[in-house]
Amino acid sequence: MQRRQIFSFAGSAAVALVLGVTTPLAQAQPAAPFKIGFILPMTGQSASTGKQIEGAIKLWQAQNGATVAGRKVEVIIKDDATVPDTTRRIAQEMVVNDKVDVLAGFGITPSAFATAPIATQGKTPMVVTAAATSAITERSPYIVRTSFTLPQVTVPIADWAAKNGIKKVVTFVADYGPGLDAEKFFKSQFQLNGGQIVGEIRSPLRSPDFAPFLQKVADLKPDAVFVFLPSGQGAAFMKQFGERGLDKSGIKLIATGDVTDDDQLNDIGDVALGVVNSHHYSAAHPSALNKKFVAAFEAANKFRPNFMAVAGYDGMRVITKALEATKGQGGGDALLAAMKGQVFESPRGPVLIDAQTRDIVQDIYIRKVERQNGQLYNVEFDVQKAVKDPGKAK
Ligand code: DHB
Repeated sequence: MQRRQIFSFAGSAAVALVLGVTTPLAQAQPAAPFKIGFILPMTGQSASTGKQIEGAIKLWQAQNGATVAGRKVEVIIKDDATVPDTTRRIAQEMVVNDKVDVLAGFGITPSAFATAPIATQGKTPMVVTAAATSAITERSPYIVRTSFTLPQVTVPIADWAAKNGIKKVVTFVADYGPGLDAEKFFKSQFQLNGGQIVGEIRSPLRSPDFAPFLQKVADLKPDAVFVFLPSGQGAAFMKQFGERGLDKSGIKLIATGDVTDDDQLNDIGDVALGVVNSHHYSAAHPSALNKKFVAAFEAANKFRPNFMAVAGYDGMRVITKALEATKGQGGGDALLAAMKGQVFESPRGPVLIDAQTRDIVQDIYIRKVERQNGQLYNVEFDVQKAVKDPGKAK
């Protein structure tokens, strides 16, 4: 490939000389492909996130083609096995050896944190399409996010709980970045609305055993337990919640939509029915664009897209529109500038990439799990429009 390009370059230079044409030599050289290096957890604890985002990348390319502004776009997907040290090593190789134009993906917060310094050093835009701790975008000026933040989706459910007769809450979160964000922002917003936090429980990210924590929730007898767990852990938690009879104990379960994840919702089963939660994306979002997206995604992948898939799809959109804006030229700083301020309709609803924070601004929906056509869905019934990450307001 490399050889062939050199030969054809030499050939056209010779033709130019013979004809006496003064075309700049650079123009005769075919443009190298534009490379997007996705680092995703295809195996390990967050493998479902990798599977969802990979499906979305392929759908984007099938629908939009693999050429942008005359430049071939090459997507490289590498598996970090949900191990942050591996994410960092792959990112380094992608920037130094593969010379990728953009880094993307990042299934969990520690993987995004580990990679941020490489984006800064390489002046390589880093598009976060999954990880959701508020502080991620502050770790490098080259980070742009198309997923969401935990404070952004948590504040609306705290408001809803306080308005709906819930007075005492136990928080239950995974013990790392996004869980700590969820705990902190639920607590402050709920207390601001006159609610009371009667317990704060954290479960380890790796191999959690929910039983002892659920016993504690039962003993504390709150009106509700507010839960955040990362994508992939919701089903195990919800099943144990039902098995221990908590669903019949009068303790309401409220959550971020990570727990009632579209990827797992049908496996969770009836214990999920009626659970009220807040998030930025539901496969049941009733827009024409989303209906088309879900139908095409399901036809191509044989499973339902979740919020990770949508962030991956929108990540491809943000990157390719930036490449278009640079007329195919690319360049770290030019791409970054063209990503900032993008406004578009996503399958989730209207979104903006905030030029100041490089984080996504989006509608947050309050949803209830219901059965529709024999399947469980998060059915949206209320919305807070254009929510900025409250974690950045400090
Ligand atoms: C993160 C991972 C998730 O799977 C999720 O649903 C939310 C946040 C994270 O590690 O940032």
